Amino acid sequence: MSKIIGVIGAGTMGSGIAQVAAQCGHPVYLMDANVEQLARAKSGLSKSLEKLVEKGKFTSEQKTNIESNIQYVSQLEGLSSCDLIIEAIIEKMEVKHSVFSALEKIVSSDCILASNTSSLSIASIGSSLKKSDRIIGIHFFNPATIMPLVEIIPAVQTNEATINQAVSLIQSWGKTVVVCKDTPGFIVNRVARPFYGEALRIYEEGIADFATIDWAMTHFGGFKMGPFTLMDYIGNDVNYAVTESVFTAFYYDPRFKPSFTQKRHSEAGFYGRKTGRGFYNYAEGAIMPLPTMDEELGKKIFERILVMLINEACDAVFMQVASVQDVDLAMTKGVNYPKGLLAWAEELSLDWVLMELNTLFDTYGEDRYRPNALLKRMVKNGDKFYS
Ligand SMILES: NC(=O)c1ccc[n+]([C@@H]2O[C@H](COP(=O)([O-])OP(=O)(O)OC[C@H]3O[C@@H](n4cnc5c(N)ncnc54)[C@H](O)[C@@H]3O)[C@@H](O)[C@H]2O)c1
Repeated sequence: MSKIIGVIGAGTMGSGIAQVAAQCGHPVYLMDANVEQLARAKSGLSKSLEKLVEKGKFTSEQKTNIESNIQYVSQLEGLSSCDLIIEAIIEKMEVKHSVFSALEKIVSSDCILASNTSSLSIASIGSSLKKSDRIIGIHFFNPATIMPLVEIIPAVQTNEATINQAVSLIQSWGKTVVVCKDTPGFIVNRVARPFYGEALRIYEEGIADFATIDWAMTHFGGFKMGPFTLMDYIGNDVNYAVTESVFTAFYYDPRFKPSFTQKRHSEAGFYGRKTGRGFYNYAEGAIMPLPTMDEELGKKIFERILVMLINEACDAVFMQVASVQDVDLAMTKGVNYPKGLLAWAEELSLDWVLMELNTLFDTYGEDRYRPNALLKRMVKNGDKFYS
């Protein structure tokens, strides 16, 4: 029999997760404290499925069945029969704690309790439970219906059965699953930080403007969007908050230092597309600035950001956050990187990556640029990530 899935929070992520589960035939209970949000989620789901019918992915009958798989509830009590519940509410620890401890009184003792948190510790969320070996992080990417990656994060309290059940269930939804350690930013939100941070630093040093840095990353790197276009898309408020939280959680490691430029844009309300202005102006009739297409400069910018990304990917492997394969899979399936960073490093040669990082480290003398110990060891021993 199909497992009964509960989702708490019918916002951006929760409604997407509920749709994915309903499309896979599960009975789903979607709960939100705000009844208007439930109504919005219901009509949003209908529109989203209508588009899939138009594209020929589902028939009208299938659409009706999927919609009838979801029950909308405004009380936690409505989730009492669930086998797995994924929480996707506001990113505040104290609110998550109170929801999970209330939830535990309602569900069966073997119901798996998961959080879709992007930045909070799963161990801490689990501490609000009496039976905390059933807590797990199940982290979808936005939009959950489209992005194939799901990071699964066992906490120190989580038992093997919970991990195995979560992995096989999410895989059965057609998602690419990577299992990673309960460390700040998990894989993607940790390894991707230099894509934004180093681009901002290059801008702050006056090396190039936003448009030129974006051009360098799309033209030389093959990234779908440059960092400033992407930050405007994500929202500078959201992206800055993630950077600040990762920086704080890493005990202020300079590798993750947030940027004043992004902070000021966020403070000014220049969030990006959603407010009509971010690093770029999206007002009607506004002219997009053109990049300086200097090939030598563009290549230098791309290489500097890329080696910083590779250094971070090496650190995730070095600190056992995830395997080489999973770090590469996470970046290609979670944020659409054109290649896995460790495979890319190998293509360019690990010696060259280390040499570039050493040059940055010598130039700036900042800890931010220190080459990762695993990379140094691999170069010394002539080892490869994929041999
Ligand atoms: N937005 C993203 O790109 C993204 C990506 C991955 C993970 N996440 C994580 O997913 C979670 C949700 O993010 P979102 O962007 O969907 O938020 P959102 O603001 O779109 O939705 C949150 C929903 O939770 C509801 N809610 C708040 N408190 C509640 C409570 N106590 N009980 C029941 N419902 C409650 C709100 O009414 C709202 O509808 C966060 O933990 C976030 O870190 C977000």
